[in-house]
Amino acid sequence: MKTGIIGSGAMGSGIAQVLGSAGHEVAIFDSNPAALSKSKTSLKTSFDKLAEKGKISNEQAQQFFDNIHYIETLDGLAETELVIEAIVEDLSVKQQVFKNIEAVVGSNCILASNTSSLSIASIAAACRHPERVIGIHFFNPAPLMALVEIIPAVQTHEGLAETVKSWVSSWGKLPVITKDTPGFIVNRVARPFYSEAIRLYEEGFANCATIDRAMTAIGGFKMGPFALMDFIGHDVNYRVTESVFHSFFFDPRFKPSLSQKRLFEAGYWGKKSGRGFYNYAEGAVQPTANEDLALQQKIVNRILAMLINEAADALFLNIASREDLETAMTKGVNYPKGLLAWGDEIGWNNILQQLDGLYHYYHEDRYRASPQIRNWIKAQK
Ligand SMILES: NC(=O)c1ccc[n+]([C@@H]2O[C@H](COP(=O)([O-])OP(=O)(O)OC[C@H]3O[C@@H](n4cnc5c(N)ncnc54)[C@H](O)[C@@H]3O)[C@@H](O)[C@H]2O)c1
Repeated sequence: MKTGIIGSGAMGSGIAQVLGSAGHEVAIFDSNPAALSKSKTSLKTSFDKLAEKGKISNEQAQQFFDNIHYIETLDGLAETELVIEAIVEDLSVKQQVFKNIEAVVGSNCILASNTSSLSIASIAAACRHPERVIGIHFFNPAPLMALVEIIPAVQTHEGLAETVKSWVSSWGKLPVITKDTPGFIVNRVARPFYSEAIRLYEEGFANCATIDRAMTAIGGFKMGPFALMDFIGHDVNYRVTESVFHSFFFDPRFKPSLSQKRLFEAGYWGKKSGRGFYNYAEGAVQPTANEDLALQQKIVNRILAMLINEAADALFLNIASREDLETAMTKGVNYPKGLLAWGDEIGWNNILQQLDGLYHYYHEDRYRASPQIRNWIKAQK
């Protein structure tokens, strides 16, 4: 297959590695020549490292690298059958780029966007043939993360999602299909992992270290919410939260927190800037976790109930199939269990009790239980 990629930053380069390794011809373009040459160097290094580690042979490393061509104008895309855009997250820039791509590719070429937060419908709307536009959302780093979300827009040709799904599987990835709604699956369902943890912290229920300890030691998550937000960076994590909140017409369930906003504004972006919820300076005093197991269990119960509620609601609203929701959260963000299976295990009555308890205490819509949970409980009776 002849493929094209627009944008050779972190995601574009990673996607080029995936497609090149799958044996496709890849033409990659970037408006910044320095970014293109940086991508070439980093891809060479990546393939060489894989060969050194014995994951691929030296011949394969060379072959995969040779599959990738660095093009200086969009004309190099003329023969492609699939183009994936991975440029700056700006709707008007993306729309212009899609128009430019459409002017050079053939009528059968599929146009995909790797956007994390924009609607595929809004990007497709800029095209003469919006029915060939679809979202193919990789996770960072693309060569390592198995999950890929496939997002047909309202305009997308029926059947295209299934075709793209089979392509993505052939690249060794795990595709899931999701509706074109804010955050798709992962960035929607995962929101309470961060926001409910911050809520507990803001109320003084426990400090960051205690909440992180509870979620890793009892919850079984690889990283606690505060360590993870510091790792992702508050510039990225806060912006995603804010964008999902705005896109959901200010649904309080997705409300960002002032604590994180202040870290973002202060430039305390986490590990990369030396300070976030934790202080990464050498010798800095770290908060200590409260070892009260009953307190830790309460923290886990509350955050988990909010996560499970979000997954149940995504199913209720037909955002994705049950199977795809479970795959997305276990493979996209490495959750220890699928959230719906976890809900089954904890018991839906227990989850509902937790949510209703919070709802009555706070009188906030944020804690409303999904009708899906009540439906399941009714069906069990
Ligand atoms: N970084 C992530 O974790 C992540 C994960 C999933 C999806 N995404 C999405 O992928 C896209 C790219 O993200 P990234 O992290 O790779 O960004 P990046 O900043 O690393 O790279 C973007 C590249 O696009 C180029 N570019 C900008 N405008 C262009 C144009 N008009 N034409 C051609 N090239 C142009 C830039 O020069 C840059 O090299 C965004 O839509 C982002 O939301 C990012």
